[in-house]
Amino acid sequence: TNTIGILGAIPQEVNGIITQLRDKTERKIGNRTYYEGYINNQKVVIVYSRIGKVAAAATVATLLLEFKVDRIAFIGVAGGIHPNVKVGDVVVAKDLVQYDMDASPLRPKFEIPLLGKTYFDTDTHWSKETCKHIENMFGLENLHQLITPSELAKFNITKPTVHYGTIASGDQFFSTSEQKNNLQSQLPEVLCVEMEGAAVAQVCFEFGVPFIVIRTISDNANEEASFSFQSFVEEVSLVYGQEIINKMF
Ligand code: ADE
Repeated sequence: TNTIGILGAIPQEVNGIITQLRDKTERKIGNRTYYEGYINNQKVVIVYSRIGKVAAAATVATLLLEFKVDRIAFIGVAGGIHPNVKVGDVVVAKDLVQYDMDASPLRPKFEIPLLGKTYFDTDTHWSKETCKHIENMFGLENLHQLITPSELAKFNITKPTVHYGTIASGDQFFSTSEQKNNLQSQLPEVLCVEMEGAAVAQVCFEFGVPFIVIRTISDNANEEASFSFQSFVEEVSLVYGQEIINKMF
Protein backbone atom coordinates (compact mmCIF):
# COMPACT_ATOMS: atom_id res chain seq x y z
CA THR A 1 0.00 0.00 0.00
CA ASN A 2 2.59 2.51 1.13
CA THR A 3 6.01 2.47 -0.53
CA ILE A 4 8.99 4.61 0.38
CA GLY A 5 11.69 5.51 -2.14
CA ILE A 6 15.16 5.76 -0.60
CA LEU A 7 17.99 7.25 -2.58
CA GLY A 8 21.61 8.21 -2.16
CA ALA A 9 24.04 9.58 -4.73
CA ILE A 10 26.77 6.94 -4.57
CA PRO A 11 26.88 3.20 -3.80
CA GLN A 12 28.54 3.77 -0.39
CA GLU A 13 25.51 5.80 0.73
CA VAL A 14 22.98 3.02 0.06
CA ASN A 15 24.81 -0.35 -0.03
CA GLY A 16 24.46 -0.83 3.73
CA ILE A 17 20.70 -0.50 3.33
CA ILE A 18 20.39 -2.69 0.22
CA THR A 19 22.07 -5.63 1.98
CA GLN A 20 19.31 -5.51 4.62
CA LEU A 21 16.44 -5.84 2.11
CA ARG A 22 14.08 -8.79 2.51
CA ASP A 23 12.49 -10.36 -0.64
CA LYS A 24 14.85 -8.30 -2.77
CA THR A 25 14.16 -7.88 -6.50
CA GLU A 26 15.87 -5.54 -8.93
CA ARG A 27 14.86 -3.58 -12.01
CA LYS A 28 17.08 -1.53 -14.34
CA ILE A 29 15.68 1.67 -15.85
CA GLY A 30 17.57 4.55 -17.47
CA ASN A 31 21.06 3.44 -16.43
CA ARG A 32 20.12 2.89 -12.77
CA THR A 33 19.32 -0.22 -10.74
CA TYR A 34 16.31 -0.05 -8.42
CA TYR A 35 16.13 -2.57 -5.55
CA GLU A 36 12.65 -3.37 -4.22
CA GLY A 37 11.99 -5.19 -0.97
CA TYR A 38 11.13 -4.81 2.72
CA ILE A 39 12.89 -3.35 5.76
CA ASN A 40 11.09 -4.24 9.01
CA ASN A 41 7.83 -4.79 7.03
CA GLN A 42 8.10 -1.42 5.29
CA LYS A 43 8.02 -1.71 1.48
CA VAL A 44 10.92 0.30 0.01
CA VAL A 45 12.65 0.95 -3.31
CA ILE A 46 16.36 1.78 -3.01
CA VAL A 47 18.64 3.28 -5.65
CA TYR A 48 21.75 5.36 -6.04
CA SER A 49 21.33 8.19 -8.51
CA ARG A 50 24.97 9.11 -9.19
CA ILE A 51 26.23 12.55 -8.27
CA GLY A 52 24.59 15.87 -9.12
CA LYS A 53 21.22 17.57 -9.46
CA VAL A 54 20.29 16.17 -12.90
CA ALA A 55 21.04 12.58 -11.87
CA ALA A 56 19.04 12.99 -8.66
CA ALA A 57 16.06 14.65 -10.39
CA ALA A 58 15.83 11.92 -13.04
CA THR A 59 15.99 9.22 -10.36
CA VAL A 60 13.26 10.82 -8.26
CA ALA A 61 11.00 11.12 -11.32
CA THR A 62 11.52 7.41 -12.02
CA LEU A 63 10.77 6.47 -8.40
CA LEU A 64 7.53 8.47 -8.60
CA LEU A 65 6.31 7.45 -12.06
CA GLU A 66 7.55 3.86 -12.43
CA PHE A 67 7.55 2.67 -8.83
CA LYS A 68 4.69 4.88 -7.60
CA VAL A 69 6.45 5.56 -4.31
CA ASP A 70 4.39 7.58 -1.81
CA ARG A 71 7.31 9.28 -0.04
CA ILE A 72 11.01 9.88 -0.65
CA ALA A 73 14.01 9.84 1.70
CA PHE A 74 17.43 10.97 0.54
CA ILE A 75 20.37 9.74 2.61
CA GLY A 76 24.03 10.59 2.19
CA VAL A 77 26.99 12.73 3.19
CA ALA A 78 27.64 16.48 3.00
CA GLY A 79 30.32 19.09 3.60
CA GLY A 80 29.90 21.12 6.80
CA ILE A 81 29.39 24.87 6.26
CA HIS A 82 28.08 26.30 9.53
CA PRO A 83 30.75 26.53 12.27
CA ASN A 84 28.62 24.44 14.67
CA VAL A 85 28.43 21.52 12.23
CA LYS A 86 31.23 18.94 12.70
CA VAL A 87 32.37 15.81 10.88
CA GLY A 88 30.26 12.90 12.16
CA ASP A 89 27.23 15.12 12.92
CA VAL A 90 23.98 14.58 11.06
CA VAL A 91 21.95 17.31 9.37
CA VAL A 92 18.25 16.68 8.78
CA ALA A 93 16.93 19.23 6.28
CA LYS A 94 14.21 21.65 7.28
CA ASP A 95 14.42 23.14 3.80
CA LEU A 96 16.76 23.18 0.78
CA VAL A 97 18.04 25.77 -1.69
CA GLN A 98 19.90 25.51 -5.04
CA TYR A 99 22.84 27.85 -4.46
CA ASP A 100 23.91 27.64 -8.15
CA MET A 101 20.58 28.84 -9.59
CA ASP A 102 20.94 32.43 -10.79
CA ALA A 103 18.59 33.89 -13.41
CA SER A 104 19.24 37.46 -12.24
CA PRO A 105 18.40 40.11 -13.26
CA LEU A 106 15.24 38.36 -14.56
CA ARG A 107 14.50 36.82 -11.17
CA PRO A 108 16.13 37.17 -7.74
CA LYS A 109 19.29 35.08 -7.33
CA PHE A 110 18.56 31.48 -6.14
CA GLU A 111 14.85 31.62 -7.10
CA ILE A 112 13.69 28.84 -9.46
CA PRO A 113 12.28 30.78 -12.43
CA LEU A 114 8.53 30.38 -13.12
CA LEU A 115 8.11 28.32 -9.97
CA GLY A 116 8.72 31.45 -7.90
CA LYS A 117 10.31 29.47 -5.08
CA THR A 118 13.80 29.58 -3.51
CA TYR A 119 13.45 27.22 -0.51
CA PHE A 120 11.70 23.83 -0.62
CA ASP A 121 10.36 22.51 2.71
CA THR A 122 10.72 18.90 3.75
CA ASP A 123 7.89 17.06 5.53
CA THR A 124 8.04 18.61 9.01
CA HIS A 125 6.58 15.70 10.97
CA TRP A 126 8.70 13.05 9.26
CA SER A 127 11.87 15.20 9.56
CA LYS A 128 11.36 15.78 13.30
CA GLU A 129 10.68 12.09 13.91
CA THR A 130 13.88 11.32 12.04
CA CYS A 131 15.86 13.76 14.24
CA LYS A 132 14.56 11.89 17.32
CA HIS A 133 15.52 8.48 15.91
CA ILE A 134 19.03 9.67 15.15
CA GLU A 135 19.42 11.32 18.57
CA ASN A 136 18.49 8.00 20.18
CA MET A 137 21.03 6.22 18.01
CA PHE A 138 23.74 8.61 19.27
CA GLY A 139 22.44 8.94 22.83
CA LEU A 140 22.68 5.25 23.65
CA GLU A 141 26.46 5.37 23.25
CA ASN A 142 25.43 2.96 20.60
CA LEU A 143 27.83 4.72 18.29
CA HIS A 144 30.80 2.93 19.82
CA GLN A 145 29.28 -0.38 18.77
CA LEU A 146 28.74 0.85 15.24
CA ILE A 147 32.01 2.63 14.58
CA THR A 148 35.38 1.47 15.84
CA PRO A 149 37.34 3.70 18.26
CA SER A 150 40.08 4.19 15.67
CA GLU A 151 37.58 5.44 13.10
CA LEU A 152 36.00 7.78 15.64
CA ALA A 153 39.46 9.11 16.53
CA LYS A 154 40.51 9.46 12.92
CA PHE A 155 37.57 11.76 12.16
CA ASN A 156 37.77 13.41 15.57
CA ILE A 157 34.17 12.34 16.35
CA THR A 158 33.37 12.63 20.06
CA LYS A 159 29.73 13.44 20.66
CA PRO A 160 27.91 13.72 17.34
CA THR A 161 24.98 16.12 17.18
CA VAL A 162 21.81 16.19 15.08
CA HIS A 163 21.04 19.53 13.42
CA TYR A 164 17.77 20.62 11.78
CA GLY A 165 17.99 23.46 9.24
CA THR A 166 18.82 24.60 5.73
CA ILE A 167 20.86 22.54 3.24
CA ALA A 168 22.31 24.05 0.05
CA SER A 169 22.80 22.01 -3.14
CA GLY A 170 24.61 22.60 -6.41
CA ASP A 171 26.81 20.90 -9.00
CA GLN A 172 30.13 21.63 -7.27
CA PHE A 173 32.26 19.66 -4.84
CA PHE A 174 33.54 22.19 -2.27
CA SER A 175 37.29 21.80 -1.82
CA THR A 176 38.44 25.37 -1.06
CA SER A 177 37.77 27.83 1.77
CA GLU A 178 36.93 30.35 -0.91
CA GLN A 179 33.93 28.29 -2.08
CA LYS A 180 32.87 27.82 1.52
CA ASN A 181 33.22 31.50 2.50
CA ASN A 182 31.40 32.60 -0.62
CA LEU A 183 28.38 30.40 0.18
CA GLN A 184 28.45 31.42 3.85
CA SER A 185 28.38 35.11 3.00
CA GLN A 186 25.47 34.74 0.56
CA LEU A 187 23.36 32.25 2.53
CA PRO A 188 24.50 32.48 6.17
CA GLU A 189 21.81 30.10 7.51
CA VAL A 190 23.12 27.12 5.50
CA LEU A 191 24.32 24.19 7.66
CA CYS A 192 25.92 22.01 4.97
CA VAL A 193 26.49 21.66 1.24
CA GLU A 194 25.88 18.72 -1.07
CA MET A 195 25.00 18.04 -4.71
CA GLU A 196 21.49 16.51 -4.89
CA GLY A 197 19.09 17.40 -2.06
CA ALA A 198 17.50 20.55 -3.46
CA ALA A 199 16.93 18.83 -6.83
CA VAL A 200 15.12 15.99 -5.05
CA ALA A 201 13.20 18.67 -3.15
CA GLN A 202 12.09 20.50 -6.28
CA VAL A 203 10.79 17.36 -8.01
CA CYS A 204 8.99 16.19 -4.85
CA PHE A 205 7.42 19.64 -4.46
CA GLU A 206 6.21 19.60 -8.06
CA PHE A 207 4.66 16.13 -7.62
CA GLY A 208 3.25 16.98 -4.17
CA VAL A 209 5.13 14.11 -2.51
CA PRO A 210 6.48 14.32 1.09
CA PHE A 211 10.24 13.93 1.42
CA ILE A 212 13.16 14.17 3.83
CA VAL A 213 16.91 14.67 3.36
CA ILE A 214 19.41 13.22 5.88
CA ARG A 215 23.10 14.10 5.57
CA THR A 216 26.04 12.90 7.65
CA ILE A 217 28.93 15.38 7.63
CA SER A 218 31.93 13.76 5.91
CA ASP A 219 34.19 16.82 5.60
CA ASN A 220 34.43 20.56 6.24
CA ALA A 221 34.00 21.70 2.60
CA ASN A 222 37.55 23.10 2.52
CA GLU A 223 41.06 22.11 1.35
CA GLU A 224 40.95 18.80 3.27
CA ALA A 225 37.51 17.89 1.91
CA SER A 226 38.44 15.37 -0.74
CA PHE A 227 40.64 13.31 1.59
CA SER A 228 38.12 13.39 4.46
CA PHE A 229 35.20 12.68 2.10
CA GLN A 230 36.85 9.65 0.53
CA SER A 231 37.86 7.98 3.75
CA PHE A 232 34.53 8.80 5.41
CA VAL A 233 32.44 7.26 2.63
CA GLU A 234 34.62 4.15 2.56
CA GLU A 235 34.65 3.60 6.31
CA VAL A 236 31.73 5.24 8.08
CA SER A 237 28.79 6.40 5.96
CA LEU A 238 27.57 2.87 5.28
CA VAL A 239 27.11 2.23 8.99
CA TYR A 240 25.30 5.51 9.59
CA GLY A 241 22.94 4.89 6.66
CA GLN A 242 22.14 1.35 7.70
CA GLU A 243 21.46 2.31 11.30
CA ILE A 244 19.39 5.43 10.51
CA ILE A 245 17.11 3.63 8.04
CA ASN A 246 16.73 0.62 10.28
CA LYS A 247 15.60 2.81 13.19
CA MET A 248 13.16 4.69 10.97
CA PHE A 249 10.75 1.77 10.33
N1 ADE B 1 29.27 16.07 -0.23
C1 ADE B 1 30.13 15.73 0.74
N2 ADE B 1 31.12 16.63 0.87
C2 ADE B 1 30.87 17.59 -0.06
C3 ADE B 1 31.54 18.79 -0.43
N3 ADE B 1 32.67 19.17 0.17
N4 ADE B 1 31.01 19.51 -1.45
C4 ADE B 1 29.89 19.10 -2.08
N5 ADE B 1 29.22 17.99 -1.77
C5 ADE B 1 29.70 17.24 -0.76
